[in-house]
Amino acid sequence: MKQLGFRNEDYTGKPVIAIINTWSEINPCHAHLRERAEAVKRGVWQSGGFPVEVPAFTITETYMKPSPMLYRNLLAMETEEALRSLPVDGAILMGGCDKTTPGLLMGAISMNLPAIFLPAGPMLRGNYQGKPLGSGTDLWKFWAERCAGTISEQEWNDMEACIARSPGFCMTMGTASTMASLAEALGMTLPGASSIPAPDSNHVRMSMDCGRRIVDMVWDDLKPRDILTLEAFQNAIAVDMAIGGSTNAIIHLVALSARCGLSIDLAAFDAISRCVPVLANIRPSGAYLMEDFYYAGGLTALMSEMKDLLHLDAATVNGCSIGENLAGAKIIQPDVIRPRDNPLASTGGTAILYGNLAPDGAVIKTAAADARLMQHTGPAVVFKDYDDMEARMNREDLELDENSVLVLQSAGPLGGPGMPEWGMMPLPQKVLAKGIRDMVRISDARMSGTSYGTCVLHVSPESFVGGPLALVKDGDLIQLDVANRGLNLLVAEDELARRRREWVKPAPRYGRGYGALYEERVTQAHLGCDFDFLSAGPETPEPAIH
Ligand code: FES
Repeated sequence: MKQLGFRNEDYTGKPVIAIINTWSEINPCHAHLRERAEAVKRGVWQSGGFPVEVPAFTITETYMKPSPMLYRNLLAMETEEALRSLPVDGAILMGGCDKTTPGLLMGAISMNLPAIFLPAGPMLRGNYQGKPLGSGTDLWKFWAERCAGTISEQEWNDMEACIARSPGFCMTMGTASTMASLAEALGMTLPGASSIPAPDSNHVRMSMDCGRRIVDMVWDDLKPRDILTLEAFQNAIAVDMAIGGSTNAIIHLVALSARCGLSIDLAAFDAISRCVPVLANIRPSGAYLMEDFYYAGGLTALMSEMKDLLHLDAATVNGCSIGENLAGAKIIQPDVIRPRDNPLASTGGTAILYGNLAPDGAVIKTAAADARLMQHTGPAVVFKDYDDMEARMNREDLELDENSVLVLQSAGPLGGPGMPEWGMMPLPQKVLAKGIRDMVRISDARMSGTSYGTCVLHVSPESFVGGPLALVKDGDLIQLDVANRGLNLLVAEDELARRRREWVKPAPRYGRGYGALYEERVTQAHLGCDFDFLSAGPETPEPAIH
C-alpha cells in the first residue's frame, strides 16, 4: 500500500471495495467505464471505504471469435477468483455488453461477497436523416434491404455512422438492455439504474451512489444470495416477459439461478409468459429505444405497472424491498411503457417449445416473429453448418421457397462452438426478391436480442451431440405449432432410429487449453451452458492466510 502512495490510516479498519471493471479499448460499449470507476471511488471514499479497481476480461460482443458466449464462464471464473483471492470485502461489478452482466453476476454469486451491479447504460439512440435507428435491430432490417439491392453502399455507411453515436450498450431491448433490466429486477442494481443512458450525467451520479452504498452493504453483510431468492428470479422472469426481453436471458437466468442453488427450468418461463403482458414498446418487439424508455420512467415505472405480478417483498441491494423502491414510480409516456389496459401484446414475448425435434426444449421469441408463421408446416432445407449455409443459401439451384423451413446444424454450445448468434439466418435472395421478409428458421444457435423473425432457437440437445436436429434431412416436413408449444419432425420413428444409428459423432474441436475445458464441462442450453463444476458442488472454503 505504501508503494501505491497510501498511508496506513487510508485503509486501516475500512471495508475494501473491489471495483471489477470490464473496461477495454476494444469494447466500445464500455468506453466510459474508466471514468465511471473514478465516480465509484469518490462514493466509496465518501462512505469511509477503501476502493481498489481490478480490471477483468472484457467480453465485447461484436469482435470476439468464435463467439462471445464461449467466454462468459471464463469471466465468471475470473470474477469469483479475483474476489476470493484478493483481500476485499465487497464489490462493484461494472459491465453491460451482453455476456459481461451474467458473467460478473455468476462469479459474484458463487463468491457471495456483498456486491452491486453497475450497468454501463444504453448508448444514445441512433439518428439517421431525422429518424431514430436502433443498434442491431435496424442493422438487420437494412441489411436485408442491402442484400435485396434497395440500399446503396453510401447509404449503408451513413447509417452505420448514425447508429453508433456514443459509448454504452445496444439501445434496443437486446441482450444487454434485457440483462441490465433483469439485474435490476433481481435486486442487484440500485433502483432505476438499468436504463440511464451511458453519457448522461445521471449515470455519473448513479455510479457514485453505488460506491457510497456498497460500503454500507459490507457493514450490513448483505450478500448476493440473500437477495437472489426464488421470488427474485420469478420477478426477473416476469419482467423479462413484460419488456419483450432477449431469448439469451433465458440461458443466463437459468445459469444464475443454478449458481444460487435454485432450479429454474424452461417450463417456468413458459408458465410466467402466459400471464404477463408485453408492456415495453421497445425494438425489436416495439417501436422505441432505451433512451425513450428512460424518459418514459424506466424500469421502475414498468414494474410499478405490474406490481400484482411481482413479489414486492423481495430484497434489493439498497436495503429496501422491490415494493418500497417502486413507491412513487409512474409512467411518463404511456406509448413507450404501456399501461396494463393497452399492452403491446396480451401475453409474454417468449414461448418454450417441445417435441421430437427438441426433447429438452427450444425457444421462440413470439413478440418479434411473424404472427402468420406461428402455425406452420414446411419442408426442411438443411445446412450442416454455418459455412455450408453461407455457401449455398443464395445458389439458384437450391430448392426452396417462402414455405420452406431453414435448418442450421452445428451451431449449439459445442457445435458453434459457443452457441453463436446465428439463429436469425439470413433469408435467401430469391425469397427477399418476392418481398418476403420472414421464414421459419430452426437451429441450436442463439440469436441476438436485437434480432427478429420466426426463429426457433436453443434446440436442445444440440445436433453436435446427436440431438434430433442432427437427423433432419432435406425435404422432411417440420411442424411448428406455437399455440400448442410443439416442434416436431414429421418422420416415422423407425426411420429416425435408422438415421440415429448411422449418425457419426464429430471429433472434439479442441485438444488443449480453455477450449478443451469448455468442451468437456459445458452444459446444454436448457441447463444454462454453465460449467457443471461451477453450478454444483460444495462451497469453496475461504483461503487460509499464512
Ligand atoms: Fe455491446 Fe450490443 S455490442 S451491447
